[in-house]
Amino acid sequence: LIVQGIAYINNTLFERVSIFIDEDSGKIIDIKVGYNIQASDKVIDVTKNRYRILPGFIDLHVHLRDLAYSYKEDYYTGTGAAAKGGIVLVCDMPNTKPPTNTLDNLKLKVNKARSKALVDYGLYYGSPKDTRELKYVTNHIVGFKFYPEDIFTYFDKNVFGEVANKAANNDLLLVFHAEDPRLFNQRAPPGLERTDIAEYSAIDNIINITRNLLRHKVKIHITHISSAKSLQLLLKTKKQYYNEFEVTWDVTPHHILLDNTMYRINAGLYKVYPTLKTRYDNMRLYLALLNNEVDAITTDHAPHSLNEKMRPYNEACPGYPGLETVVSLLLTMVNKDLLSLESVVRYYSYNPARILNLKGLYGVISKGAYASLTIVDLKAEWKVKAEDFVSKAKYSPFEGWSLQGKPYLTMVRGKIVFHDNMLYGELRGWGKNVRELAKTKS
Ligand code: NCD
Ligand code: ZN
Repeated sequence: LIVQGIAYINNTLFERVSIFIDEDSGKIIDIKVGYNIQASDKVIDVTKNRYRILPGFIDLHVHLRDLAYSYKEDYYTGTGAAAKGGIVLVCDMPNTKPPTNTLDNLKLKVNKARSKALVDYGLYYGSPKDTRELKYVTNHIVGFKFYPEDIFTYFDKNVFGEVANKAANNDLLLVFHAEDPRLFNQRAPPGLERTDIAEYSAIDNIINITRNLLRHKVKIHITHISSAKSLQLLLKTKKQYYNEFEVTWDVTPHHILLDNTMYRINAGLYKVYPTLKTRYDNMRLYLALLNNEVDAITTDHAPHSLNEKMRPYNEACPGYPGLETVVSLLLTMVNKDLLSLESVVRYYSYNPARILNLKGLYGVISKGAYASLTIVDLKAEWKVKAEDFVSKAKYSPFEGWSLQGKPYLTMVRGKIVFHDNMLYGELRGWGKNVRELAKTKS
């Protein structure tokens, strides 16, 4: 199989590139400049100037739900939304029903995902119920996720120490949702029940806990930072302790593009954690993208039923779907010269692959890497219409936005899972658990 067109290789766009793919291994076996095909070759021709062949996008933070929450989303609709959104690998959070914090519960997910996924996925484990199970768990997960309650309410130093050790020895991520529950104020107006101070305080505590407990070889990831204050603290920390521990962080499109005035329009619909902050926070986070002051972009795709959103603010579920809008939102910024295509690839493909220790296999177009590619149409114009989402969550905080730039084709290890507005549903089950894939080696 050959893909030919303008491709992003080694941080540069090259014209007239032919990418040769071995369909058995799903890997790239050769890259040549120029188009010289034989009559017998199978070719995907995207040589028109509007297309770009990019390393497939990777999302470090999504909620695919399933099990008892399959009315919100399941592994097929969630990974289908990813495929349509141009994303080849998604990392799934453990706050499900039942929660992914025991070996039995993890097995339920491993099996469900195996039969339904259309794109590759990683699974996170929550704060474990029984640390003795951890040795059976590590081969199936990409990391651990800690929620505010885990760190500040039920925090157990010994459990955390064991988890951190397992993580360090098995190349697993420690991901933190940073908002300090001791500073929440449930009686405050929408959005102010969790402020930037609560986020700042959580990050400050997480840094101190992990530094004191772990000393060396610490590697942590703070997900979805939402404020200027948090960013400044992380930048300072990185400078101060750079030889002691490694901290990375990500931002979401909604924390860059939406501010807390949105709550006046429809508080329940826009409800999300961390809360939306001020337009100045939006601007600071956008500047961070320009200045290479963040490591990754994530969606925090958090689907709920429409009923669960259309409630008074205090009773509404927080979060919204993001997988089918993220790439177009970013490409719209590229088209307006607000962002470079290079940084989109860095934050949403190259860096996430590096953070997941999958460098060389994902996040690059190079010999030996998986042929997991996203081909985008830079010129396609469309209006967000959540009714048409593959996700079961058919609403969006970006409803009605006019966007330019769209995923055109999504390929996962040599197989097309989405092409020209068509989802290849018959390939359900093709998506693999990246951690298990890495162990089998092909
Ligand atoms: C998350 C969800 O729905 O799972 N929602 C969100 O707003 N990010 C849970 C959470 O992080 O509180
Ligand atoms: Zn989340």
